[in-house]
Amino acid sequence: MNNKILVTGGAGYIGSHTVVELIDNGYLPIIVDDFRNSNPLVLDKLNEIVGQTVPFYNIDCTDKKKMDKVFAEHPDLMGVIHFAAYKAVGESVEKPLMYYQNNLGSLMVVLELMEAYKISNLVFSSSCTVYGEPKVVEVSEQTPIQEATSPYGDTKIVSEKIITNTVNASAQLKATLLRYFNPIGAHPSAKIGELPNGVPNNLLPYLTQTVNGIREVLTVFGGDYNTKDGTCIRDYIHVVDLAKAHVKALNWLDNQKLPVVESFNIGTEKGNTIMDVIKTFEKVNNLKVNYKIGERREGDVEQIYANTQKAKEVLNWSCEYSLDDALKHQWAWEKTLKK
Ligand code: NAD
Ligand code: WQD
Repeated sequence: MNNKILVTGGAGYIGSHTVVELIDNGYLPIIVDDFRNSNPLVLDKLNEIVGQTVPFYNIDCTDKKKMDKVFAEHPDLMGVIHFAAYKAVGESVEKPLMYYQNNLGSLMVVLELMEAYKISNLVFSSSCTVYGEPKVVEVSEQTPIQEATSPYGDTKIVSEKIITNTVNASAQLKATLLRYFNPIGAHPSAKIGELPNGVPNNLLPYLTQTVNGIREVLTVFGGDYNTKDGTCIRDYIHVVDLAKAHVKALNWLDNQKLPVVESFNIGTEKGNTIMDVIKTFEKVNNLKVNYKIGERREGDVEQIYANTQKAKEVLNWSCEYSLDDALKHQWAWEKTLKK
């Protein structure tokens, strides 16, 4: 089997966990990352987990000349998993061009080179953000995509269109669009996890940093939503389960006939409120979270969770970890980080 997979953004949060799963499943990942939102130490930890040195290139994925050299060295890639992108919703509102330039620019370089080198299988990181504020809160892949509420969200909608049109015009390209819900947790070894830069925007790193004494208090954004306890509902998925979905997507893609471009929701099918998350974190780790209820955050969706029937049936993928596991692993990881 040809088993080389190029992993752009492989030093990042989801990418690093996916590299572990790829190696566990007999693939040979090759990482491209320039550490703009990650740390070189991640690669040392990754190598410790997998017991080998994962090939790595410190390259900006929007630099076509440099990326071409990587493809020229590995013209026999079985596929590409494209994680490299910026992901902070608020920052994208302040710096839209930076988001379009990186998120679309890197994708187009990857697609052009996949076409030039006749590489078949692309797994793309999309997001549940494409569904916006859905009318029915359990969303399937048939749920309509809505106008994006941020430039970040728009880059994911446009990326899906670019990939679809390219696949439809291509003689060899096949693609899966994985729409992630809210990834949380860390590797059970606590050697890798999320490394947020500055003040975290996402709930879990903010919560664990508060318990770790780095932040004073976690503000719960809004306590007056139309949910059982007034706080927003999300579908929190363990990052290792999410990582495993990429392996399943690659296996599946490789066995498909052209043309194939399929979207898959990758979540747990369970909606949890923020208070569920706080209370579960306190219970499984035997700790108290210092929190207060604050104002709603602009742009937040009230509730959303995934229907993942398609990923279960087509990819033969389902979650193995619970919210309890994810919150235990998240805390074990946080404890390894220096204050
Ligand atoms: P991350 O920031 O931890 O990882 C992204 C990696 O890509 C980083 O290591 C960064 O240094 C690298 N990178 C970015 N632009 C690059 C470039 N031009 N050249 C080389 N390297 C570059 O983010 P993540 O949470 O692992 O997210 C991975 C992907 O999943 C992104 O596309 C993101 O939009 C998508 N996604 C993330 C979430 C989430 O909540 N984390 C949810 C849905 C979708
Ligand atoms: C979760 C809930 C907040 C921080 C974002 C992107 C989405 C996707 C996943 C990439 C919300 C609340 C948060 C805090 C809080 N990423 N919260 N206090 O907003 O669901 O999704 O990440 O594609 O596109 O929009 O995730 O972790 O920011 O928030 O109360 O300090 O926690 O209001 O209800 P979100 P999140």
